[in-house]
Amino acid sequence: MNTEFTLTQYDEAAHYILNHTRHRPAIGLVLGSGLSSLADQIEDADTIDYGAIPHFPVSTVPGHTGRLVIGRLAGAVVCAMQGRFHYYEGYAMQQVTLPMRVMQRMGVGQVILTNAAGGLNPDFHVGDIMVIEDAINFLGMAGANPLRGPNLDEFGPRFPAVNRTFTKSLRELARKVAAAQGLTLQHGVYASLSGPNFESPAEIRMLRVLGADAVGMSTVPEALVAHHAGLQVLALSTITNVAIAEVDAANEPTHDEVIDAGKVIVPRLTALLIGILGELAMHDKGNAS
Ligand code: HPA
Repeated sequence: MNTEFTLTQYDEAAHYILNHTRHRPAIGLVLGSGLSSLADQIEDADTIDYGAIPHFPVSTVPGHTGRLVIGRLAGAVVCAMQGRFHYYEGYAMQQVTLPMRVMQRMGVGQVILTNAAGGLNPDFHVGDIMVIEDAINFLGMAGANPLRGPNLDEFGPRFPAVNRTFTKSLRELARKVAAAQGLTLQHGVYASLSGPNFESPAEIRMLRVLGADAVGMSTVPEALVAHHAGLQVLALSTITNVAIAEVDAANEPTHDEVIDAGKVIVPRLTALLIGILGELAMHDKGNAS
């Protein structure tokens, strides 16, 4: 199967979605492991199963629902992905990141990516939310890069810079909204690995030495492709477990633990996202008038 999509194919997916919703979303939202329930808050929702959208892969992980929910959240018109695609599921990187380009073709200008992550920074606790400031793209560095293959100049350049991937104004907005809610946000560097196994203790110690604060199996390919396509990116990691750096530790990380922690974090993350979306919607209206 050819997984290097053409502009026509991205447009086929974008047109299908726009033909099946009353809304014209401005903001894309990707809901990570255990965070799907957030989409239940979306008003006037139009839902579209991934399976119906041309060229869309179908998500296979428990905790990832597999549909788009398009509607209003805090006054903002959002296109939320209830479930994302991961490299470890067997998809090509171009499939993992396809929704970013499709959203760009739909007219989306900003994406908010969320994920579940293991905390590496010793100051992090389960339940914390980390604003991603920068990333180490181990997969991309090793060759599994979503921008590999013929470049589509309509999206962005062959050799993109990535130092401004995570949009400063959105990171500042997240911090401002959190402070108003009495929520302390962490911030730091996210390391993306393939998974599906959790990291070995030696890998955890290596990641710490390399300057990573959190580790996970998603987000960076999407952020890279979104940034390449000119979208503003905000990425939030929910710390669902603390990385285990000792071989003989009594406990071990599990997906159930990740999902359970997600349930605790969802109300906090929901409040934060609603606050951020409210500000973005207000800003949009200010610009329009
Ligand atoms: N490692 C990788 N991915 C994860 C983790 C982790 O500890 N927790 C949630 N996603």
